[in-house]
Order: sequence, then C-alpha cells, then structure tokens
Amino acid sequence: TGVTTLDPGFVNTASCTSEITFIDGDEGILRYRGYPIEQLAEKSTFIEVAYLLIYGELPTAEELESFTSKLTRRMLLDERMRELFRCFPRGAHPMGVLAAGVMALGAFNRDYLDPHNPEHVEEASFRLLGSMPTLAAYAYKSSVGEPFLYPQTGLGYVENYLRLSFGYPTEDYEIKPEVVRAFETLFILHADHEQNASTSTVRLVGSADANIYASVSSGVNALSGPLHGGANQAVLEMLRKISSYGMDIKEFVAKVKDKESGVKLMGFGHRVYKNYDPRAKIIKGHADTLLRQSGKNNHLLEMALELEDTALHDDYFISRKLYPNVDFYTGLIYEAMGFPAQHFTALFALGRLPGWIAQWREEHDNPKRKIGRPRQIYTGPARRDYLPLAER
Ligand code: CMC
Repeated sequence: TGVTTLDPGFVNTASCTSEITFIDGDEGILRYRGYPIEQLAEKSTFIEVAYLLIYGELPTAEELESFTSKLTRRMLLDERMRELFRCFPRGAHPMGVLAAGVMALGAFNRDYLDPHNPEHVEEASFRLLGSMPTLAAYAYKSSVGEPFLYPQTGLGYVENYLRLSFGYPTEDYEIKPEVVRAFETLFILHADHEQNASTSTVRLVGSADANIYASVSSGVNALSGPLHGGANQAVLEMLRKISSYGMDIKEFVAKVKDKESGVKLMGFGHRVYKNYDPRAKIIKGHADTLLRQSGKNNHLLEMALELEDTALHDDYFISRKLYPNVDFYTGLIYEAMGFPAQHFTALFALGRLPGWIAQWREEHDNPKRKIGRPRQIYTGPARRDYLPLAER
C-alpha cells in the first residue's frame, strides 16, 4: 500500500520537530533549551529546570517563587488516594504502583482533563509535578509496608520527597543538604532526553488526544523496561550477582561478548550517544565523592569502575562505540542513600516528569500535529478461505 520505508526501532526516523532538548551523540553533548547540561547540573535546581523545559526560559525570581509554591501546594493528595496505595501487596514493584497512582490522580482531578483547554493543561501540569514526589514516595512506603506521611508546605520539593520516603510520623526527619543537592543534580540530569522510548510513548498517547495523566502514566510504563529506565535497577543487580558469584570482571566481560549467553553489560550503550554519555560523566564524579565520603558500597563502586575500564579497553565495546550511559552509576548512589534497587526507576520517573510534560505540551501546541500512526509492511499469509472446524 505504498509503504516502502522500513525502520524498526525508528533508528533513522524523526517523529517530530522539537525546541526542547539538543543531543549530539557523536560529541557527547546534551543541552536543555540551549543550556549545557553541565552548567545546569552544577548551578541550577530541579524546579528551575522543570520551568525551563516547560516554558522555554529560565524563570525570574518572581516566576520561580510562584511556580514553586504552586507545586508545593499540590503535593498533598486527595485523602482517598492513600487507600489506593494501601491496597497493593508488600513488595509490589513501585513502577506499577506509580503508573496506577498517576492514572488515579487523573481520576481524582477529572475537572482538568481537556487537552484542548490551556487552563486545564496548566493546572494538570502543576498537579502532576506537585503530586509526583508524593506518589513516588507512597509507592515506596507501600512496597516496604511503612506508614505514609503528609507533605509539608514549608519544605522544598526534593526535601519533601526525601522526608516522605524516609521519614516516620513519630520522628523528626533530618535533612542533609549534601543529599538534597545530590538528588537535585540527579533529577536535573534525568529531566529530558528528547525522543527516547518513554517520551515518544507520551507523545504518541497524547497524539490521540488522550489526557496528560493517561499519557504520563504510559510513559512511566515504557520507562519501567530494563532496556530503558529499568536499567538502573538492572545494573545494581548485575553488580551484586558478579560479586556474590565471586566472578572475575574479565570473565564477566567475556560472557557479555559471547552473544549466545544473552548477557548484556547493563548501563552500557545508547541509541544516540556514540561517545561517553555526558550525564554518566557527571554522575560518576558524584558517585565517587558520595560513596567514598559515606564509606558505603565501595566494593560495588570499585567493581563498576573496573568493569568500565575493562570494557573501554576491549575491542568489542570500542568497535561498537559502547560507553557507560546515565544508568551505570546512579544505582550506586541511590543505594547508598537508602533506596532498595526496586525503587531506582521510580526516581528516574520523578526526574523525567518535566520532560514528559514539556514534550506533551509542545506537541499539543503544534497546530499541524497529527495522530501518531506508524505504517507496517505486511508479511503474513495471502488471501485464503475460512475452513469450518471439522475440516481443519
Ligand atoms: N552489552 C553488550 N552488547 C551491547 C550492549 C550492551 N549493553 N549494548 C549494545 N550492544 C551491542 C549489540 O548487541 C549490537 O551488537 P551487534 O552489532 O554485534 O549486533 C551493537 O552493540 C549495537 O547495539 P544495538 O542493540 O543495535 O543498539 P540499540 O541502539 O538498538 O540499543 C540500548 C540501545 C541502550 C537498548 C542497548 O545499548 C542496551 O541494551 N544497553 C543495555 C541496557 C541499558 O543500559 N539501557 C539504558 C539506556 S540509557 C538510559 C535510558 O534510556 O533509560
């Protein structure tokens, strides 16, 4: 039917134009709205970056204050939503719970669902951004069977998230500025990454005029896969496995190179970066400092460093231009801060949310947008006649 181009995995197909994020994969460059990721990671805050991604410019002091207060005032969930989190079994994967939480948020905010009403879209964006730390923290609390806390308007976005995750109703929670800064940086580094699988999913679902909650929830589900955001959990599990089997790093790398084994070096390789992922470079520095300071997990960090070094000197990885990606070192930091591996991808989702919202809005603001509808090349049977059951 006239379709001649086949591009599995959309390796060479642009689905949209975008003004949000620039990547040069050969040079290892990443910029949000023109600003180098290195500058934002060092100097900015997550809320400021969220504003930048969504509105296109860094906020003035006044705009930042108003935006921050809008988000913090929307951190408190409808009381009935707490019941939802109580229903999930202990040990349920937080990504499934988070996706359900985002859908439930849409159900509880059904007055703001019209994708064509700019006021609805604006309010839904605030509610999603404001509620996400609470949803992610409740997904965690629910999986470990601990009591939920209420957010506090006097605390910042990241502070609230940490307290909601690790605090107890019976005790004060001590906020450590260096931990808050580390999470600010990590969330900034995850905030957008142009047309990756989850963002493309958000756009595709949005292109059918589905509301922003449905689109973001679909993004959470896409992100959960181990080839995408789920890789941060997979990396830590890989390191633990190598360690518990007492496997030699060179032996493990040999296994990865043997395609029959089906074992991948998780946290390595990227569709776009054929050079060191600039996010991984920054995170590696933080992992080194934070882990050495805390004295935790040095063994796994040493292993990760050795794995990286071995891979980067091996022809298999050199010839395929495989480098560490954003997920290679994050898990080590998250674990040192007290999160179980199962929860790592929810942290990625929390960081990626501003990007999903910005991209959904950019698509909806485009008057020429069309429903996403890829074509296919049919390879099934030619026409044939139905056979009654007795004749088959
Ligand atoms: N370990 C071993 N071999 C690899 C790896 C890896 N991690 N990644 C790619 N390769 C090989 C692959 O087998 C292929 O070899 P050949 O040419 O002999 O067939 C070659 O490198 C090219 O890889 P590809 O699978 O065609 O590349 P892709 O762009 O389709 O996939 C990827 C990209 C990220 C899915 C893949 O590199 C991968 O599976 N990596 C491990 C999972 C991971 O770390 N994902 C996180 C991605 S970054 C953040 C995010 O999106 O969340």
